[in-house]
Amino acid sequence: MRIGVLTGGGDCPGLNAVIRAVVRKGEKEYGHEFVGFRDGWRGPLEGLTMTLDIQATRGILPRGGTILGSSRTNPFKIDGGIDRIRENLAATGVDALIAIGGEDTLGVATKLDALGVKVIGVPKTIDNDLNNTDYTFGFDTAVNIAVEAIDRLHTTAESHHRALVVEVMGRHAGWIALHSGLAGGAACILIPEQKFSLDQVCQWVESRFKVNYSPIIVVAEGAIPQDGDMVIKDQTLDAFGHVKLSGIGDWLAQEIEARTGKEARSTVLGHIQRGGTPTAFDRVLATRFGLHAITAAHEGDWGKMVALHGTNIVRVPLASATEKLKLVDPALYKEAEIFFG
Ligand code: F6P
Repeated sequence: MRIGVLTGGGDCPGLNAVIRAVVRKGEKEYGHEFVGFRDGWRGPLEGLTMTLDIQATRGILPRGGTILGSSRTNPFKIDGGIDRIRENLAATGVDALIAIGGEDTLGVATKLDALGVKVIGVPKTIDNDLNNTDYTFGFDTAVNIAVEAIDRLHTTAESHHRALVVEVMGRHAGWIALHSGLAGGAACILIPEQKFSLDQVCQWVESRFKVNYSPIIVVAEGAIPQDGDMVIKDQTLDAFGHVKLSGIGDWLAQEIEARTGKEARSTVLGHIQRGGTPTAFDRVLATRFGLHAITAAHEGDWGKMVALHGTNIVRVPLASATEKLKLVDPALYKEAEIFFG
């Protein structure tokens, strides 16, 4: 079989580990050939390919990003997009696709599967918000980067008796904020799933100062104040209709300073959370996803996504990955609240 591989959406650490595992096992054990499609769905749409064999994937295990490139291209938003994909798959002799992506990329894969394209999905996102898998790779790396930043911010906050707000990624789901805030000893954690009260946040800030600690406030970019809307700097939409988030951290620092009289500054971690080398956990998870994805393709089990259930890698229907978002359970958030203030 000749199998096309693509990585779509926001990149994340571990993508190269998946690609390497797919190609290594696919070539060595099953004798399949591979075609790398460049830049997400733009690759099959525009016939942008690159060589993908064992040689091309040597040395990439610890490398962040993706050797295939990525984009947020949505072929369903382009006139004749699906026909062009079919034509390019035929022209490159590609029988099937392995699509590595998050909500949007796997959403496209699900629709293509329904149209008869042979596809297997691999779940990726630092946000960890894909349904029907316990974890996505990239999340652990992002959390560790955020925790290191929080640890560093604690020491400088203490020296200057300031409140420091850390804005982390998480558009709809607060997984990165929750995990990094808990691991980093935050004075409060604000997530998109639970609207927050500014008065309450200021009380938590003040109570931390009272016991001679400088508060670190961890806020997910998609967190929303009770009396307002999501804070966004840029209203432009991507091909999947998402706005570019960021802005809540600065806004929160200004409000805290104005209301408490304590100096407050903000740090936006942004794409630092998505860059660089994956943690060992993510390398192993991504590698296992890759190994199971190529076996699913070899067995012709199309329309499936590989997923982590407990410690097992299983196959689930592709459609189940995107039918809803995996949000932070209120009970889990409640557990963390004991440390607030
Ligand atoms: O979906 C992953 C993610 O990192 C989100 O947390 C974030 O909102 C978004 O991508 C940022 O995307 P971009 O790099 O395209 O601005």
